[in-house]
Amino acid sequence: LVILPRECAPFGFQKCLLFGANLGVAAPVWEAALHLCRYFEDQSVELRGRRVIELGAGTGVVGILAARLGSLKSSIFHLRHMTLCCLPGAEMTITDLPLALPQLRANVSANVPPAGWPSAPPAVLPLCWGEDHLAFPSDWDLVLCADIVYLPETYPLLVETLAHLCKNGAVVYLSSKMRREHRTQSFYKEHLQSRFDVELVLRDDKQNNNIYREELNKRLDRKQFLFTTE
Ligand SMILES: C[S@@+](CC[C@H](N)C(=O)[O-])C[C@H]1O[C@@H](n2cnc3c(N)ncnc32)[C@H](O)[C@@H]1O
Repeated sequence: LVILPRECAPFGFQKCLLFGANLGVAAPVWEAALHLCRYFEDQSVELRGRRVIELGAGTGVVGILAARLGSLKSSIFHLRHMTLCCLPGAEMTITDLPLALPQLRANVSANVPPAGWPSAPPAVLPLCWGEDHLAFPSDWDLVLCADIVYLPETYPLLVETLAHLCKNGAVVYLSSKMRREHRTQSFYKEHLQSRFDVELVLRDDKQNNNIYREELNKRLDRKQFLFTTE
């Protein structure tokens, strides 16, 4: 067992099991995830009782935090000194590729709040973009993603998955390190904007990290659907 990096401590994490180098990019906590956690707290994004799914969760820091806090408005002080069961947490589903799931399950188990999960414990499930999304419903309130825009070959697949999950009006929060070498900007400009309304809600110049809020644009989505099925 190891304590998570110092940056995670303000978010009340207890510990993280380390699964080593064979997990590749899924092993560390990425800056974009911490930016998203801070954004939720600063903006008091309401997560209580919401149905939330996280994609490409890696260590699960974002999803576990959402499930623990319910409303991120409650500070860590509150977290330590109040009975958590007063606050129903987000109903959380945390997903990634199959190889990352043992780490995610271990991190979920290692971070159970002292008073137990405010809602059901987070579900940890495999979801490979563009392949598995039809096994998931479309009735989410929120879809959370941190640093998952870095493989250009997956961009169309990721949009496909997001469009399915957001069919019934879910809002997506996507935190991205804007790497030129991964053409991250093109994901937003060329791929996502063909079906979603995309709004940049926060930019950190120093760390070159953007947070976007997106909703499926029914008109654009229908057009795209007709175009691809013609
Ligand atoms: C850079 S890491 C970010 C992890 C975590 N969200 C964070 O910010 O700390 C990218 C994550 O996306 C996952 N991933 C990559 N390709 C994927 C795919 N095709 N389907 C689902 N997840 C994928 C990886 O396993 C990894 O956990």
